[in-house]
Amino acid sequence: MRLRKLRSDMKLKGKRVLVRIDANVPIKKGKAIDGPHGRIARSAVGINWLLQRGARVIVMTHLGRPNGRRVSAYTVKPVAKRLSGLLGGKVKVARSVVGPDVHKLVEQLKDGDVLMLENVRFDSREKENAPSYASALAKLADLYVNDAFAVSHRAHTSLDAITSELPSYAGPLLANEISVLSKLEAKARNPFVLTIGGLKMSTKIPIMKHFASRVDKVLVGGAIATAFLVAKGLEVGRSAYEHEAVSEAKKVLARYESKLLLPTDVVVVKALRKDARQEVVPIDAVKPTQRIVDLGPNTIARYKELIGEAKTIVWNGPLGYCEISEFCGATRSIAGAIADRTGKATTIVGGGDTMPVIEKLGLADQYTLLSTGGGALLQFLAGEKLPGIEALKL
Ligand code: 3PG
Repeated sequence: MRLRKLRSDMKLKGKRVLVRIDANVPIKKGKAIDGPHGRIARSAVGINWLLQRGARVIVMTHLGRPNGRRVSAYTVKPVAKRLSGLLGGKVKVARSVVGPDVHKLVEQLKDGDVLMLENVRFDSREKENAPSYASALAKLADLYVNDAFAVSHRAHTSLDAITSELPSYAGPLLANEISVLSKLEAKARNPFVLTIGGLKMSTKIPIMKHFASRVDKVLVGGAIATAFLVAKGLEVGRSAYEHEAVSEAKKVLARYESKLLLPTDVVVVKALRKDARQEVVPIDAVKPTQRIVDLGPNTIARYKELIGEAKTIVWNGPLGYCEISEFCGATRSIAGAIADRTGKATTIVGGGDTMPVIEKLGLADQYTLLSTGGGALLQFLAGEKLPGIEALKL
């Protein structure tokens, strides 16, 4: 996929560049929770690149879902603070997204300065992909950069309509994600192993279907595996899974059973507490009083063996109940096994729920791609077109 990208020979000195990032991270006690490989940290690289070339950077993001209203819990101030720390200079925050006050602040910008607009979703026109909002935003800048892969699945003004108003380019973070992901589409090397976990079957089935003819094995964990076990008629006790997903799981099993690997042993507990007594049981020995919380050692060993032979590995979703660290052993182990394979294999790992585990293990830079995307990655991997990306295609 060829995109219009920022190039090092572009004359950016003195240019007002409107940069869309995805700084949608948790905010706790007024602080943006963003590790060294977090969304804001990774967006700062592209902003810094522009600043070093003398651009006047105007940053915009969404935060949460404020539904077109100004909601103080979703102000971008904590994001600006985090960016200031990363860029080594104060990032000013405008009180609004567009309007005369914002224009004044933009006029005051000097080469190498950064201004952050308020949450683009404080205006209901953001979600409407509205030309009027796009032209108001465009008046602030000379060119537009989308460095927000993680929200590019939304046909929103700051990602789509804006590209009709300004010369538009992919930023380095987005360009890298698309470059790795589109190679996966074009020529994934075999053996190709897809590893999926998490709760929501509905978001993972389209990925399985999309890669069905190219993938060699699908390793399944988490609550999704449990739904498959139920579909096979096995006892899962009080384990969590999407009940409505079982009929879909039956259909997938009927078509792709030879490629699917399900747990052969699991870790079970009686209560979802970190101090609960853990027991490893074969998959046909789960009692009605027990809950499956993680993959067992034989399953992990088999999954690691297949990962160790793969040339393409895509992983999305935790393989156990990682809300409690004691039940996250399989996820940690597989995270390590995939990282070990990088170099010999293309390794693509989805952010979101697995990100904190990966950061804690110090593995964040050990994959071909650690995607910033949640929903955007799932949609891309399912073969869907993302409006924000389509708008940047050459
Ligand atoms: C995400 O966190 O996946 C993106 O920022 C998109 O957020 P949204 O689902 O609220 O559009």
